[in-house]
Amino acid sequence: MMALEYVCMKPTNSIYSGLPTTIFETMSQLAREYDAINLGQGFPDTDGPEDIRRLAADALMSRSNQYPPMAGVPELRQAVARANGRFYGVDVDWRTEVLVTSGATEALSDTIAALIEPGDEVVLFEPLYDCYLPLLRRAGAVPRLVRLDPPDWQIDPEALAAAFTPRTKAVLVNDPLNPAAKALTTRELSVIASHVIANDAMAICDEVYEHIVFDGRTHTTMMSLPGMRERTVRIGSAGKTLSLTGWKVGYVTATARLLEPIAKAHQYTTFTTPPNLQLAVAAGLDKPDAYFHELVRDLEQKRNRLSNGLARLGFDVLEAAGSYFLVAGYGSSSDEPDTIFARRMTVDVGVTTIPLSAFYETPVSSRYVRFCFSKRDDVLDAAIERLASWRDHQPARARL
Ligand SMILES: Cc1ncc(COP(=O)(O)O)c(C=O)c1O
Repeated sequence: MMALEYVCMKPTNSIYSGLPTTIFETMSQLAREYDAINLGQGFPDTDGPEDIRRLAADALMSRSNQYPPMAGVPELRQAVARANGRFYGVDVDWRTEVLVTSGATEALSDTIAALIEPGDEVVLFEPLYDCYLPLLRRAGAVPRLVRLDPPDWQIDPEALAAAFTPRTKAVLVNDPLNPAAKALTTRELSVIASHVIANDAMAICDEVYEHIVFDGRTHTTMMSLPGMRERTVRIGSAGKTLSLTGWKVGYVTATARLLEPIAKAHQYTTFTTPPNLQLAVAAGLDKPDAYFHELVRDLEQKRNRLSNGLARLGFDVLEAAGSYFLVAGYGSSSDEPDTIFARRMTVDVGVTTIPLSAFYETPVSSRYVRFCFSKRDDVLDAAIERLASWRDHQPARARL
């Protein structure tokens, strides 16, 4: 008989070991268990442009499959530089100011690793995208949270001013903001920029939804504001811009002084990104204006389809100015915390959402859930139908 072996090792890193399973995973598991329509996770359920996928497939056979240049293939770096000029009037040197990464997530990780020192303060806005705090904490940063609340997600000028101190190294801004679907106005961006400049800090801008803004809005990048060109790290993603989330191709634009250490972090993290995907994304970024208009038109129509359906059922649907998401309140019909409500919707109704409170670090008592609308029309219609038939079977008091 083998003796039992007791392994006593030093603990693993507490930042990651201490993290619970994400709400996205928990809700998706529940969706699978109850065969629910999953409007929780944020990705389109149809594929991106066929010509771009074909280019990637052809490049896989006709071009090299060995390590491409560390900073990215020239074709994609040039396309990213061109896109900065075309959409925002920002002149970029593709040789020294553009880096290709394996998704915006890697770009965020590299940027935080390269720019932040232990003890640096970083200002960021709640509700938050899930990877920000773990990455910042792993880098030893001190997060300074500014909280935005539904229904209008206003930035409180005093709270913002109080979050910045002489120890502020950076502000991390996600615009358009997932999950609030808020698109920051130029005025709001300018106020944030004025604090960045006053505190001699930097702006890390997660702009993965830059091309997904609705109702005639146009996206402004913080990088284009006066005094911000040299202080901004701008992060984009082909996942959202070309509806190819599984490719994980991201790109960073920053002045050479900031990009250099970010590229070093990339060099020792992934080093490169698959070359055929990079070549295809380069062509995607050069697509004519009609492609970008169609992307917005299509998602805007889906947003309207879902939000009209939810409003008819009594949900309090908040304005969704950009991204794949909308937030809807159910507070007029139920006092349940959003985590319980979202669970009940999955189990009893067969529609999965994400409770808004999951995006806050500070305790929040929310009666809101986030829906993803970048899904096929028949999927959105089926979700509305399930909600409608469930509502019809509720006692009158509990109806939405
Ligand atoms: C705000 C935000 N940032 C970053 C990402 C990650 O982008 P990528 O898939 O390119 O890593 C996402 C994906 O959902 C996102 O919503």
